[in-house]
Amino acid sequence: MSWKIGTRIIHEDLQPDPQTGMVTQSITPAVAYAFPDTDTAAKVVSGEKEGTCYGRYGNPTVKILEKKIASLEGGEDCLGLASGMAAISTALLTFLQNGDHVIVTKDVYGGTYSFLDSLAPRFGIEVSFTDCTNVHNVVDAIKQNTKAVYIETPSNPRLTVLDIKEIADVCRNHNIPLIVDNTFMSPYLQNPLELGADVVVHSATKYINGHGDVLAGFIIGNENIIKTMRKKFMGNLGQNLNAWDAFLIIRGLKTMALRMDRHCNNAQKVAEFLSAHPGIENVYYPGLASHPQYHLAGKQMRGTGGIVSFEVKGGTEAAKLLINSLTLAMISFSLGDPETLVQHPATMTHASIPPEERIKFGITDGLIRMSVGLEESDDIINDMEQALEKVIGERVVKS
Ligand SMILES: Cc1ncc(COP(=O)(O)O)c(C=O)c1O
Repeated sequence: MSWKIGTRIIHEDLQPDPQTGMVTQSITPAVAYAFPDTDTAAKVVSGEKEGTCYGRYGNPTVKILEKKIASLEGGEDCLGLASGMAAISTALLTFLQNGDHVIVTKDVYGGTYSFLDSLAPRFGIEVSFTDCTNVHNVVDAIKQNTKAVYIETPSNPRLTVLDIKEIADVCRNHNIPLIVDNTFMSPYLQNPLELGADVVVHSATKYINGHGDVLAGFIIGNENIIKTMRKKFMGNLGQNLNAWDAFLIIRGLKTMALRMDRHCNNAQKVAEFLSAHPGIENVYYPGLASHPQYHLAGKQMRGTGGIVSFEVKGGTEAAKLLINSLTLAMISFSLGDPETLVQHPATMTHASIPPEERIKFGITDGLIRMSVGLEESDDIINDMEQALEKVIGERVVKS
């Protein structure tokens, strides 16, 4: 009998322990693993036989989680890593080497931009930041040495939604792998592999763990590519996820469906409140009919997520005053936690992007990104309302 996603998130690939019957998973912290003989050791090292040879290449607790994430994303295999950036850099470095070119969606997470802008060129990798909302731009950006296309949808922080299937079709025709950062959606709301992507990356620090107490990343793809990433990249760079954090994610993951439904509902209400408020200039949320990719979002995503970005009338000063006036929402870099978190991309998450580039990416100095939490929506909105009153009051005093 097949289960629906909410049930699969809880039960799939998790069995009670055969010896003790315990329902929750145990943690295996071991780094070293003993073999009965040298032949067995050699077979495990070569991958001919299933097993763990050394903690930097994998771990039994992490393996349970990797299997689960692979099946939730509809992939053959998965690799657990120490952070979202470990997953992103490993995925990119697997496909790219000296002399190669990569096409990257225009508004990406600041850490990804920083890696591609400052580190990748040191390895001789050329990057084209491209507006991928129009697939013809992707086609035009392809060069003879293009070895990967990397997109993030919805994007951080402008919530731009890209047509994964359309871009995947172009990539397939040109034999170029498509990598998709699915962090903002989680496997509950969107599955890029089903839409034709080759590799999915996640910052599990966000919605997958969901409690703000673990840094982790995942890469999902076919068996061969994950094997290569595990041995040649993650192993050599020492980017493995540890057993303790994997245990916390296995626990956090069980409530992902409930959490994501609530994040989506709360964010929709916050976005609607903001778009009706006279103190607000623009609201970016794929669940609003005013969003440029509203219909695409409805087709490609099973929910519009928990992040709302917006601009307050009055620019940077007004934005800062609003953020500083919030009493429930906390000023913080992260997202996807139970708590509502708010931040100023131009000076926080996306500060590594030079101002002239930031503007091209739509990240104005007045932009605010809110990760709408799991609190009661009325409380989040009341907090916004009182902060907006302060901003409007300040404007009246000044004028
Ligand atoms: C969309 C996206 N991808 C990747 C990352 C990087 O994740 P981590 O902080 O786990 O390295 C972030 C972090 O905010 C993000 O927002």
